[in-house]
Amino acid sequence: MPPHAGPVGPVPPGCDPDAYDRRRRRVLWRIPTGLYLVGSRAGARRNLMTGNWVVQLSTEPKLVGVGIEVGVHTYGLVRDGGVFAVSFLSRSDRSVVRRFVKPAVDDPAGRTLNEVPYHDAPVTGAPVVDQAVGYLDCRVTREVELGSHCLFVGEVVDAGGAIGEEDGEGVELLRMEDTRMSYGG
Ligand SMILES: Cc1cc2nc3c(=O)[nH]c(=O)nc-3n(C[C@H](O)[C@H](O)[C@H](O)COP(=O)(O)O)c2cc1C
Repeated sequence: MPPHAGPVGPVPPGCDPDAYDRRRRRVLWRIPTGLYLVGSRAGARRNLMTGNWVVQLSTEPKLVGVGIEVGVHTYGLVRDGGVFAVSFLSRSDRSVVRRFVKPAVDDPAGRTLNEVPYHDAPVTGAPVVDQAVGYLDCRVTREVELGSHCLFVGEVVDAGGAIGEEDGEGVELLRMEDTRMSYGG
């Protein structure tokens, strides 16, 4: 979009574009979501990214979609590597998401990204934080370029963690509303 092009349309007839843009954004921000770390890997390159656009898309096959901004580090790694892993976080662990809003520094020998301990998901090798209470390990089956963001659709090739156990129901997961952050809109 060229600079100063004004709000993204369409704008309903009779609405002030800027007022409508603010109203639309406030509503979009309120779509309830969880808050996750999206792990990506292409060869020796790994990254973790804070993300909330994560959703199940099909039960047969088991498909999960993640919306990733075109051009960010994670976008390149998921395209090149064809895999991603979603780390689910405990509600008490919200501080960690602030550490993954720009490309992370990997210490493969120490097994840390931005000094946060991780391990490679057993099937795809994408990074999962050790403190995750659950994970979904996915292999990309489709990429849909949507504009600012790309929908990567992944087939779940492995899943686990505390929330996958029969007594895991009591584990409270981190959600967007637990933070003061917003994304998208
Ligand atoms: C609360 C929050 C949620 C976010 N959700 C997403 C998301 O779902 N998709 C996305 O592409 N970026 C999202 N971001 C932005 C990325 O974390 C940020 O752009 C990051 O720089 C991109 O990561 P990378 O460059 O390390 O790949 C979110 C940021 C925050 C603070």
